[in-house]
Amino acid sequence: MSSADDPQTQPRTTSEGSTPFVVAVDGTSGSGKSSTCRAVAQRLGLAYLDTGAQYRAMTWWMLEQGVDVHDPAAVAARSGEPDLVSGTDPSAPTITVDGTDVSAPIRGDAVNGAVSPVATVPEVRARLVDLQRATIAAATSGIVVEGRDIGSTVAPDAPVKLYLTADPAARARRRALEEGGTDVAATEASLRSRDAIDSGRATSPLTITDGAVRIDSTDLTLEQVVDLVTGLVEEARLGAGART
Ligand code: DC
Repeated sequence: MSSADDPQTQPRTTSEGSTPFVVAVDGTSGSGKSSTCRAVAQRLGLAYLDTGAQYRAMTWWMLEQGVDVHDPAAVAARSGEPDLVSGTDPSAPTITVDGTDVSAPIRGDAVNGAVSPVATVPEVRARLVDLQRATIAAATSGIVVEGRDIGSTVAPDAPVKLYLTADPAARARRRALEEGGTDVAATEASLRSRDAIDSGRATSPLTITDGAVRIDSTDLTLEQVVDLVTGLVEEARLGAGART
């Protein structure tokens, strides 16, 4: 059985035997997770892992290979093949598939439209959760990990768990700006559709896990969210230090 099938199993220890400090950040598409997580990791000298980019990279590869992304059995059968590597420097995160830099194409419309069905396939999730746990175990200075199931499945023992969201119209405006697109209505429809699939799937649905702090950024600037999250992380680090 893959360790990803068991939410309680994760490689929690580094080679020195200590536990990497994990900030688990989940939330809806376009809630500002990536900008927030990168800025917090940079401020605090932590590594950064964008797990959404991994689901996107897996999807990009399936499309390149001509796999029918709406056929879960076909996706499952090929999910072990691509070699995905994520660079965890928050000032310049990278993602490659079989050595090819895919940072740009994974943000395009083709991947936007296909990633949610690919992310519902349990074999894809098991493979990527294993990869994510290995990255966490190697992050000896601590790591900020963003996604949908980080606090619930990937790192359920994380000392900081956050759930970031904002109302769909605000998220669509931000995403459309980021992606250079002008069609805010189409972006909002696409976000809502991804939210529905992400929240409704059987394996590791997007959910607010026990102990997570919910942050609604609708009326907050990025700077305000970053300040808030940095404060929560520093508080937790002090608490962790005080207990040891
Ligand atoms: O965060 P994002 O929009 O780049 O995520 C892309 C897709 O991947 C989205 O449909 C949710 C899915 N995803 C997931 O299912 N689990 C994760 N840990 C991260 C992303």
